[in-house]
Amino acid sequence: MRVGERQQALDALLPVFYDLWHPQPFRENQPDWSLNLPALADELLKLADPDVACLNEDGAAALDLLARHVPAVAEIAGLADLPRRPANALVEQRASWAWEIPGRKRQQIEAFASASQCGAGSVIDWCGGKGHLGRLLAAQWQVPVHTLEIDAALCAEGAALANRQRLSHEFLNIDALTAADWPKRGQHAVALHACGDLHRRLIAQGADVGVARFDVAPCCYYRGVTSTYQALSGNLRTALTRDDVRLAVTETVTASARLTVQRDKEMAWKLGFDAYRRASSGGQYQNFKPVPAIWFRGSFNEFLVLMADRQGLSLPSAAVSGEFEAAGWRRHGEVMRLSIVRHAFRRALEVWLALDLAVFLENRGYAVELGSFCERQLTPRNLLISARLG
Ligand SMILES: C[S@@+](CC[C@H](N)C(=O)[O-])C[C@H]1O[C@@H](n2cnc3c(N)ncnc32)[C@H](O)[C@@H]1O
Repeated sequence: MRVGERQQALDALLPVFYDLWHPQPFRENQPDWSLNLPALADELLKLADPDVACLNEDGAAALDLLARHVPAVAEIAGLADLPRRPANALVEQRASWAWEIPGRKRQQIEAFASASQCGAGSVIDWCGGKGHLGRLLAAQWQVPVHTLEIDAALCAEGAALANRQRLSHEFLNIDALTAADWPKRGQHAVALHACGDLHRRLIAQGADVGVARFDVAPCCYYRGVTSTYQALSGNLRTALTRDDVRLAVTETVTASARLTVQRDKEMAWKLGFDAYRRASSGGQYQNFKPVPAIWFRGSFNEFLVLMADRQGLSLPSAAVSGEFEAAGWRRHGEVMRLSIVRHAFRRALEVWLALDLAVFLENRGYAVELGSFCERQLTPRNLLISARLG
């Protein structure tokens, strides 16, 4: 299916299910859909913990469950399921090329490189960190590579690694958001996990100057979005708030068990504080400023006192805090279960965001393919936009 066709179909369907993916059970004790679909809410609230964990991470399984209650969502699954990009064999490198690269990152880089095809006289590696991807491409494709990176220390380390291999690989220690002279006409632009505005700038500016090829694996689409996402490819029916855009990238498939336990505790404690706030002053869920990590290291009572003090509420006694800690964990269980509905749409929203970039390039005369370059266990941000000027 062409990217334009897929975009039209997905863009028409997503607004139909807005009431399922937009409400955040963390903020709303009872999302409206749970009143209209009581059997769905009932099934979710009865799920065992291991099933909840699986369904929150496995969007396809969550869509299957949802489709038993709302059959029309099944179409979303087909549109969000993209083909794997064909992989080319890489020329064998000496093991030393990758000494400095953590295992998972190395696999991502190799998968990205094998899904991209050399097609221009020079490469710009956009927001490339230490330039591991750029270094591999310089060795594989034997073309000059520039890695653009804002962090001077990463540039210095990357340059030392490139020198060790005597590659034509240089670093540009500049800001991607203001770089006026890069990328250049006729170049091959690659970007592995350049966040939000960084990948959008590459694509918009690159199309303006006539970049010959793009291979872009976007991430953190919400970075640089203030209140609503501004589509690049034209007027679309789906409108996403910053929180909706964030939803597209919230799965923790690569998080360690320790981080998952920590995340659960933080959510339960915040919900415990929310229960205290509602009991003290009533009303709806209220946003609060980010909570310093150190506040989660003590007891729940200490956390609650710090939060109440910051929000100008009366301070809780140790005697009542147990009640609110229990309420927080109870709400955490409900939120994790009801969030399965919203999480079912994560991949579809991410595909919609990537399609916006892909169709923008198609409108500018590029032949564009969108697919995945690796398994999601390696990185959930595994979409690759490959475009070449016709
Ligand atoms: C997620 S990392 C990806 C690095 C590399 N492409 C990789 O996959 O290993 C994003 C990189 O973008 C860089 N960065 C952030 N803001 C930038 C900016 N405004 N201009 C250039 N680089 C930037 C960061 O320093 C970081 O190295």
